[in-house]
Amino acid sequence: MQVLVTGGAGYIGSHTVLSLLQSQYDVVVLDNLSNSSVESIKRVEHITGKSVTFIEGDVCDKAKLRQVFSDYTIESVIHFAALKAVGESAQIPLSYYQTNVHGSVCLLEVMQENKVNNFIFSSSATVYGEENQVPYVETMKLGTPSSPYGATKVMVERILADVALANAKFRGVSLRYFNPIGAHESGMIGEDPKGIPNNLLPYVAQVAVGKRDKLSIFGDDYPTQDGSCERDYLHVMDLAQGHVAALDWLNCHGDFTGVEAFNLGTGNGVSVFAIVNTFEQATDQRIPFEVSPRRAGDLAAFWANATKANQALNWQAKRSLQQMMIDTWRWQSNNPNGYLEQ
Ligand SMILES: NC(=O)c1ccc[n+]([C@@H]2O[C@H](COP(=O)([O-])OP(=O)(O)OC[C@H]3O[C@@H](n4cnc5c(N)ncnc54)[C@H](O)[C@@H]3O)[C@@H](O)[C@H]2O)c1
Repeated sequence: MQVLVTGGAGYIGSHTVLSLLQSQYDVVVLDNLSNSSVESIKRVEHITGKSVTFIEGDVCDKAKLRQVFSDYTIESVIHFAALKAVGESAQIPLSYYQTNVHGSVCLLEVMQENKVNNFIFSSSATVYGEENQVPYVETMKLGTPSSPYGATKVMVERILADVALANAKFRGVSLRYFNPIGAHESGMIGEDPKGIPNNLLPYVAQVAVGKRDKLSIFGDDYPTQDGSCERDYLHVMDLAQGHVAALDWLNCHGDFTGVEAFNLGTGNGVSVFAIVNTFEQATDQRIPFEVSPRRAGDLAAFWANATKANQALNWQAKRSLQQMMIDTWRWQSNNPNGYLEQ
């Protein structure tokens, strides 16, 4: 019995594949490598001493998906494969709907053909939109996200609800991630964005390693403690273990059907200035920065109420902010060019 992990060569996917292997799950990865390198999988194999079946392919390619389900005994699917840059999604929305929504539909169709019902979806805090109050809790209605990227996550959550209504055997979990940062403690795998990083920590790390001159902090006049945006940052290995916890939960609750959403976060908001300070202290590196105007669509502050995942999944984000910084820096300083040849 194997777990199919789509997008398993990417940032969160590779850390999750590692955690799955360490928890004795057998893994098949399908990834089109559009935003990743197969080197991440090789390194996961090296760290764990276990092998991964890697298939290069697109989630929108149903013939390929059918082949995978016929070649392997897939019992559960964890679906990471998606495009994820919020800003880019406003420029090329159709690509985002194609990959994120159509890709999910193709995968769910082929799962249905093969009577595979266990599905874990990479959702996001962005589904709470602008209208919900913090901290976000799973009982809130889905909101109106400010980007096409966010809209694709809301759409797939709606699709899952409809699939569960139509198929009494469907067992879905939506994991709503807050802000994953950090890297595996080995420093061998981590976040390797192509081009200019969209997220704060990879940018900070690239400034520290000398690839970029300075960090831009977008807005210092928000109604927060120090004026910069606040987010709920969690260690990517805690997030990875959240997927194992969700899969264990599905396996232990054989009578569960439907779709259940869980927030995966620490429950604390941390400001951009606090991130820069903690990074500097934890790594002894200096991060030059400038304050730039606010970015369209950025919310002032949000964080999770993660009680449901704490209680039902017996999962907790355990690693400290300092650990997140140290692990980010170990990865970045050991691999200044990411997975490319050094
Ligand atoms: N990183 C975050 O802050 C964050 C927050 C919330 C949700 N998410 C979601 O988590 C998931 C993983 O994010 P990540 O940060 O690891 O991103 P990532 O880009 O590192 O990983 C996505 C992987 O999917 C692959 N992929 C993209 N399109 C594909 C396609 N059509 N067919 C097959 N593979 C394809 C990419 O090559 C990549 O390996 C995504 O669904 C993302 O939307 C991420």
